[in-house]
Amino acid sequence: MTIQWFPGHMTRARREIQEKLKLIDIAIELLDARVPLSSRNPMVEEILHGKPRLILLNKADLADARTTDKWMANFAEQGYASLSIDASTGTRVNEIPIKVRALLHEKISRQVAKGMTPRPVRGLIVGIPNVGKSTLINRLAGRNIAATGDRPGVTKGQQWIKVGTEMELLDTPGILWPKFEDQLVGFKLAMTGAIREQVLNIEDVAYFAVKELAQYYWDALAERFGLTEPPSDLENNLEIVRVMEDIGRKRGCLISGGRVDLEKASGIILRELRAGNLGRISLESPEFLV
Ligand code: G4P
Repeated sequence: MTIQWFPGHMTRARREIQEKLKLIDIAIELLDARVPLSSRNPMVEEILHGKPRLILLNKADLADARTTDKWMANFAEQGYASLSIDASTGTRVNEIPIKVRALLHEKISRQVAKGMTPRPVRGLIVGIPNVGKSTLINRLAGRNIAATGDRPGVTKGQQWIKVGTEMELLDTPGILWPKFEDQLVGFKLAMTGAIREQVLNIEDVAYFAVKELAQYYWDALAERFGLTEPPSDLENNLEIVRVMEDIGRKRGCLISGGRVDLEKASGIILRELRAGNLGRISLESPEFLV
């Protein structure tokens, strides 16, 4: 589901998260491992306001494992604990409560020192739409709880979900907005499927995808679609369109006069990319940060 964010929505989403923050010990910030920067809310530091935080790089099954490791090292350098997971299959999800308790170790020890029995630590999952919040909540709960594609402003009565004996999670996630005023962010989120085609033109998104893939993952693109001729110049629009046409021809996307149906070809490129059929692909690396 695509959320059209307006200033009113953002204010409400922010207010909702701030209300929830009062109830919890730790925020669990969910990012897309393929695009950790673009899937990050631009105001997250301000909104979370110093709450202890665990960063989860979700959809790690679709991202380049080496790049994900580099991101985790990068977050560690910035003082953040992180974990790469795959919420849809549950890979490493069982490490979340362990990490969370490790992060809150001092607080828990203080309670024990005062003779208190520590209560389960309470967490809140936050992240932009489509990053996998509901999938993760359901996975941690071991049953279907969160409706996928939640919207800000639609709060039901909040409940705590037990995650083992030592952790509890709010059943509704905190929904954040992406940095969509940056066009590049928009294209990357569209390429990974977080923003739907209704918002951006499908051929424009596929064009962007082919250009990125030709630059960083040509072998994967060539292998998937049986291509033999890489674009001679990535800045030449006609060359990128030529590669899109090659893909279309390989997949029989033809219209009258032997021309390629670019819209159909674009759909195929994006669908297969998002499904992971081109292999594990990361679109952002900490190495390229300046
Ligand atoms: P949200 O609550 O943050 O909005 O996200 P949600 O859980 O609805 O997940 C969005 C899509 O991402 C879902 O696909 C879900 O299955 C998929 N997803 C979540 N976590 C992972 C993961 O770790 N790996 C992979 N490969 N996919 C994941 P969907 O239900 O098929 O919806 P869609 O594909 O139609 O968007």
